Amino acid sequence: MTDRITVSSLQKKKERGEKIVMITCYDYPSARLLDQSGADILLIGDSVGDNVLGYENTVPVTLEEMIHHAKAVSRGTERALVLADMPFLSYQICPEQALENAGRMMKEAGVAAVKIEGGERMAPTVEKLVSSGVAVMAHVGFTPQSVNVFGGYRTQGRDNDSAERIVSDAKALANSGAFAMLLELIPAELAKKISKELAIPTIGIGAGPYCDGQVQVFHDLFGLYPDKTFRHAKRYSEAGLAISEGAKRFVEEVRSGAFPTSDNSY
Ligand code: KIV
Repeated sequence: MTDRITVSSLQKKKERGEKIVMITCYDYPSARLLDQSGADILLIGDSVGDNVLGYENTVPVTLEEMIHHAKAVSRGTERALVLADMPFLSYQICPEQALENAGRMMKEAGVAAVKIEGGERMAPTVEKLVSSGVAVMAHVGFTPQSVNVFGGYRTQGRDNDSAERIVSDAKALANSGAFAMLLELIPAELAKKISKELAIPTIGIGAGPYCDGQVQVFHDLFGLYPDKTFRHAKRYSEAGLAISEGAKRFVEEVRSGAFPTSDNSY
């Protein structure tokens, strides 16, 4: 059995200049495949809402849904660090609420760490969680749970004021004890500056090549939605097309009588 990735092994990777790889994951078979691929972190993202559950965005996702998916991912993982998003309004109300719900995520779903969105305002929550034994990844830049405040999926930190705000958010959250910082949809040069100034690892999505690691969404990497493309993503396989093709062949073969044959019969 290989050693588990931990928050301290991730920190060492940053210090050695080794890139950290994180992939979102929502179920048991995918967890097995991704764990065996050598990815460092499997994130049960609240993007389970739009990618798996058919919601418009991450806002409707509940803690119960997150725990359900996180349990399956934990069961399929031996090596990677299992990290779960705290869903919208499961941690924003007060630090005590955050601790109670993060505790459920750890105890019921077996995750090693949680991720929360938001800037400096979330620093007391990070402090409360970390001082109580919960490892926290912070998430700044574009934070999808606030899509209604941003008015859409927009790159953040393009002007000086907003860039400075993101730098000070990241520093406040790191000082509060976050073990890593997710940077979403910010200019590459800003991500470079934050990655240089923070001692903890940065993990980017749409934040350019200078972060200490990269995260991508499972369905974007493997083409589960063949028509959906994003500038920040790259396709590594066409699983969506392969499944459609396979399903059409199965339909045809059942209808034509080509399946099952005697080989598939008892
Ligand atoms: O839920 C999610 O997919 C995320 C991404 C930013 C990686 O948090």
